[in-house]
Amino acid sequence: MQIKPNRDTIGVVISDIRLDRPLSESQVTDLLQAWYDYQVLIVPDQPLSPEQLEAFTEQLGEIGDDPFLEPMPGHKHVLELRREPDEKATAFGGTWHSDWSFQATPPSATILHAQTVPPVGGETLFADAFAAYEALPENKKTELQNLRAIHSAKGPYGTDGFYATENSDRTMKIINSEKAHETQVHPLIRTHPGSGRKALYVNRVYTLGIEGMADDEAQSLIQELCSHATQDEFVYRHVWQPDMLVMWDNRCTQHMALGGYDGHLRVMHRMTLRGEVPV
Ligand code: OGA
Ligand code: MN
Repeated sequence: MQIKPNRDTIGVVISDIRLDRPLSESQVTDLLQAWYDYQVLIVPDQPLSPEQLEAFTEQLGEIGDDPFLEPMPGHKHVLELRREPDEKATAFGGTWHSDWSFQATPPSATILHAQTVPPVGGETLFADAFAAYEALPENKKTELQNLRAIHSAKGPYGTDGFYATENSDRTMKIINSEKAHETQVHPLIRTHPGSGRKALYVNRVYTLGIEGMADDEAQSLIQELCSHATQDEFVYRHVWQPDMLVMWDNRCTQHMALGGYDGHLRVMHRMTLRGEVPV
């Protein structure tokens, strides 16, 4: 296995490995280490059926639970992200977020495997949440250290959420539900269990408030921190190729889909790994 870190940003390109067959123990260890070190693993040229994607994922941990979206027929843990050439609905994941941060144990990893990549657009942006934390002034770090943020899925997935009220047809089947109104509280600064580094854990889609803080004050703090966290200097812009697999760490990154490929098909297969209670 060869590893080639991106220059200047998070992300590492892995080559000389095949993910369509069982990995050795040392390959699993090396992949996880590269993932801890660089936050986004990029593995080009990996043709994988949904079964092979599932088998790969199972070697790295426990498969996560992906609510509010209908899975692929016959593959209850695989989602297909699909946007048709004539589709007018916004790109799925088109606002900065960390996956499923409203869960009690949000996914550690999301794994996306490219099936059909449009000839223009369709990139994914990744922001480094370790760097965002580390760049805060010391007094701000202290001020945030013991704050706990309130997360919920209701913005997009609630009964009157974004996906329930959009007026363009969407190919992906989204299940808006009452369940999305539940809340979870997580530390605003979380410590990564793999590396012990601290990350800013807040995002515009799911973070709705701060425990014990008035709403307007909390809103302005959340907006300020989200703008800080997604500045260009923390961002890696990922360009896809067909058969490329990317695995990102939701505990220390945020991401967003860029769109910009109207008139072209984009298809991805997606799985998650279950994470732990954020601390
Ligand atoms: C996701 C997501 C971004 C993309 O799968 O969680 O946000 O570029 N995807 O498809
Ligand atoms: Mn996402």
